Amino acid sequence: MHNLHVAIIMDGNGRWAQRRGLARTAGHVAGAAAVRAVVESAASRGVRALSLYAFSADNWRRPGAEVAGLMRLLQRYLLTQTSRCLEQRVRLSVIGRRDRLGARLVRAIEHAERATAGCTGLHLRLAVDYSAQHSILQAARLAGEDTGPADFQRLLDQVDHAGDGAGAVDLLIRTGSEQRLSDFLLWECAYAELYFTERMWPDFGPADLQAALESYASRQRRFGALAATAR
Ligand code: FPP
Repeated sequence: MHNLHVAIIMDGNGRWAQRRGLARTAGHVAGAAAVRAVVESAASRGVRALSLYAFSADNWRRPGAEVAGLMRLLQRYLLTQTSRCLEQRVRLSVIGRRDRLGARLVRAIEHAERATAGCTGLHLRLAVDYSAQHSILQAARLAGEDTGPADFQRLLDQVDHAGDGAGAVDLLIRTGSEQRLSDFLLWECAYAELYFTERMWPDFGPADLQAALESYASRQRRFGALAATAR
């Protein structure tokens, strides 16, 4: 599983909570615990990069209390997990817009990124206020006539604050039964293998990640070529 870029749309926190008679925010708290376990598992399995959709640009349309709860969780995650990331050699970055985030959250992001910049293990990328369409539009404004796919990826990384980025996604996982991309890493997922599971995100654990990786390993990737000549 070395050299893989895995992306996850972590869906189902709200339904998980509702089924238990809990507030949606309780589902997000349980979701954050699932993030910790899956990050450890991905790091120990040698996944190269893990991109997690934590807050989409459209999530601003949710009730204020839910948005505030998610922002608090993200900030707490960054403040409490940075030292754990260092222990596990995880490099943490946050992709997406920063101009609409609170100043304290931006400071926590910058601190976590600086502290883990030298880590050479898993590259954990949290997508916050992220919209692939927005990023693509911004990058297109910077692109010239001679811009090819690799240069365009660099422009996307620039507008996403992604540094040297993680490039193409190999495997995209979505939990919570829905089967759609929801504006996540649209450029990077051009040839991604898709894996959908009915598991709600708070219930998704290391064994589920293993199952997704096994499904990926069994697929034949051709990138539009014939099997014998695929890259
Ligand atoms: C989708 O579930 C999930 C989100 C909108 C937020 C994802 C956030 C977390 C997993 C926790 C915070 C993240 C970190 C990195 C600490 P939903 O609310 O849309 O679920 P539903 O479809 O069942 O309503």
